Amino acid sequence: MNPSPESKKKSRKRVTVPQLIEKKRRGEKITMLTAYDYTMAALLDASGVDTLLVGDSMAMVVQGHENTLPVTLDEIIYHAEMVGRAASHALVVVDLPFPINHQGIHEAVRASGRILKETRCQAVKLEGGAEQADVIKALVTAGIPVMAHVGLRPQAVHTMGGYKVQRNREQLMLDATTAQEAGAFAIVLECIPAEIGKELSESLQIPTIGIGAGPHCDGQVLVINDLLGLTSGYVPSFVKAYANLKETIQAAAAQWCNEVRENEFPGDEHSF
Ligand code: KIV
Repeated sequence: MNPSPESKKKSRKRVTVPQLIEKKRRGEKITMLTAYDYTMAALLDASGVDTLLVGDSMAMVVQGHENTLPVTLDEIIYHAEMVGRAASHALVVVDLPFPINHQGIHEAVRASGRILKETRCQAVKLEGGAEQADVIKALVTAGIPVMAHVGLRPQAVHTMGGYKVQRNREQLMLDATTAQEAGAFAIVLECIPAEIGKELSESLQIPTIGIGAGPHCDGQVLVINDLLGLTSGYVPSFVKAYANLKETIQAAAAQWCNEVRENEFPGDEHSF
């Protein structure tokens, strides 16, 4: 039933933080996808994706909440442990749930330390730029790689008045450059105009990973449920679905129900 039991896992070299920075220098695009459980993480890891993100988007696509705010540290650790165990190639990054990185340096280091110790993942991501400089510095000093996240910050959905494109160029430049100076190894740019995504990607030394930030970013990230066509309801316009698994799953389940009701399943070949 499981695609890749741990015992059969091929050991491949893990993508590292310096390699991601080197990829930017060489002009090679970086790929990042979200994952929330062992099965999906093993499949995505085998696809060769560079980075897996245990995103707090799990609040919406796994837990069924209306925004990312409810997810707790214990919940994200529970999911990240499965992803960390499945991934032997991708660098695994874990979101710091709201509002941990706003509760002071001590709390951010304590929570990130738990994430690295308890999940085997390699880095954390936090939403925020300039105002998070002290937290980023403290985490990096403690040996915890940090991916920053600027532009649309879903944890600030109430302050931002919804999921809107962020167009304040000066603020975006300040957030991104301050995060870089504080020691972030990469930076997610969410929902910003493509021309600002280009300007930031050209002016920063660290890689930019875009989602709704245009084609010039050093890498791209998507929520896996969106990429696979599993999302019901509203799907942002920056998403491209590469499969329609919602229909595939519903059709398979309906066919199974039908075959059970018609006494077609299980057949002789499925019986002892
Ligand atoms: O939580 C998440 O999945 C994210 C990505 C959309 C970047 O932050």
